[in-house]
Amino acid sequence: MAPKVAIVFYSMYGHVKVIAEAEQRGLKKAGIDADIFQISETLSEEVLSKLHAGPKSSYPTIDATSLEKYDAFLFGIPTRFGNFPAQWKTFWDTTGKQWSTGGFWGKYAGLFIGTATQGGGQESTALAAMSTLAHHGLIYVPLGYKTSLDIQSGLGEARGGSPWGAGTYTGLDGSRMPSTVELELAAIQGESFGQVLNKVSFS
Ligand SMILES: Cc1cc2nc3c(=O)[nH]c(=O)nc-3n(C[C@H](O)[C@H](O)[C@H](O)COP(=O)(O)O)c2cc1C
Repeated sequence: MAPKVAIVFYSMYGHVKVIAEAEQRGLKKAGIDADIFQISETLSEEVLSKLHAGPKSSYPTIDATSLEKYDAFLFGIPTRFGNFPAQWKTFWDTTGKQWSTGGFWGKYAGLFIGTATQGGGQESTALAAMSTLAHHGLIYVPLGYKTSLDIQSGLGEARGGSPWGAGTYTGLDGSRMPSTVELELAAIQGESFGQVLNKVSFS
């Protein structure tokens, strides 16, 4: 049976959402139809407006119980001070039941990340997320280099993403949307994540 894959992102300004959609296209190339969800907002409209947040996308939000129905996850995370945002943490802080019952244990997870700047913390955000994945017994699937060595070794242009997962640089004012090569890397991650899943048997 084909694995059930959920792409779950948080996005305040829309960049990580676009990467999520590229990941979905990549998974499709591996023969997997993934569902996209967003993590619930925790900030008030007043605070969001002061932060110049964009409109929320129409993707449904997901709770921990519904997420248990999936076999594998790609999480999209915009960096906050080199770490994941409070919204992502708040989601995981609702997963005590899954932690105690092993609801996510042995399932597969990958990450993709947005930062404003180069060196703004894509890798440190992935590292910070490892503790959450480990405590839930999730099997982390990195992007690695095998399927994207040419892109990842290229020094011709600024580009988000690393062997920890695809990524995008938004620019300080958020005006830079994901570039062609960042979208390509995200699609490669989706496809290679799918290829890893296709080696596993799901009931
Ligand atoms: C409170 C706050 C902290 C941030 N911290 C960082 C940071 O440490 N490094 C960085 O490069 N960008 C940082 N950013 C920029 C975000 O990572 C960037 O806006 C985000 O990746 C955009 O993704 P989105 O459009 O999907 O929301 C920060 C943004 C906010 C609002």
